[in-house]
Amino acid sequence: MKVVLLGTAAGGGFPQWNCACRMCAACRAGEVTARTQDCIAVSPTGRGWFLVNASPDIRAQIVSTPEFTPGPGPRDTPLSGVLLTDAELDHTLGLLMLREGGGLRVWAPPAVAHALEHDFGVRGVVARYRQWDWEIAEPGAEFEVVEPGGARLLVTAIPVSGKRPRYAAESTAEGPWVCAYRISDPVTGGALLYAPCLASWPEGFDELVAGVDCVVLDGTFHSAQEMPGATGSAVGGGEQKSMGHIPISGPEGSLEVLRAHRGTRRIYTHLNNTNPVLDKGSAEHAELAAVGVEAPADGTAFEL
Ligand code: MLT
Ligand code: MN
Ligand code: ZN
Repeated sequence: MKVVLLGTAAGGGFPQWNCACRMCAACRAGEVTARTQDCIAVSPTGRGWFLVNASPDIRAQIVSTPEFTPGPGPRDTPLSGVLLTDAELDHTLGLLMLREGGGLRVWAPPAVAHALEHDFGVRGVVARYRQWDWEIAEPGAEFEVVEPGGARLLVTAIPVSGKRPRYAAESTAEGPWVCAYRISDPVTGGALLYAPCLASWPEGFDELVAGVDCVVLDGTFHSAQEMPGATGSAVGGGEQKSMGHIPISGPEGSLEVLRAHRGTRRIYTHLNNTNPVLDKGSAEHAELAAVGVEAPADGTAFEL
């Protein structure tokens, strides 16, 4: 299986257009590398690719990735489909950017599919432009995604959080609102766990992490008080918690758990622009490196 980390920043990207926090300023000064919004792509052999999430930056991400070069026919594209972990805008706005492409298949957990149709409305909008197939990714039920030529990946949606998007606060849909995906290649045996939104460490997640070669995990915030500290308190610590992202550091943080999983490649993504880990020269980044956990740049590619 081939994997490309197309974008590794949280909603808003890095730098965020209206943010003058220390990290965004360092990015504008050229001291820290910019990042686009979280999204990955997977493929069995490279003949057909599946996005996992569709970030608002998807056009730039596709254009800068040689694997996505269209052809040989004038409107052929190696992009075969999209898997969605949740219905947040930073993971779904890119669907609108893909409206030029016909025949895409989109898989979403039930509540996410409901929100995209009835709360966000993007499904109806896209249908005015192109015919797509919309599929339900039933939590816990393994399904296949198949590239042209027949090579396939096995995919399972795993419920991880009940945090719904703000625009869907009054939605009638029943959760889970956020799923992780376990994606495996039946030929190589390689397996990936992609979980860019974790409110807390889910029950049973240790076994899942131990059972894959690589985990790409929610690294939004380094600390529980990061947003109020970095942005002058427009958002309090309680509100940061309500955003549904487990911090990296602290006794309840994800790094403490990841420490034990030395047999799995561990990668943080969905990094918020306030996160000091973005700076490779920071003590916080060094702390990650000491544990063997990575926060690689956009465009990082590997095979499993
Ligand atoms: C999140 O990850 O918490 C959301 O994407 C926040 C947002 O709506 O931008
Ligand atoms: Mn997000
Ligand atoms: Zn910022």
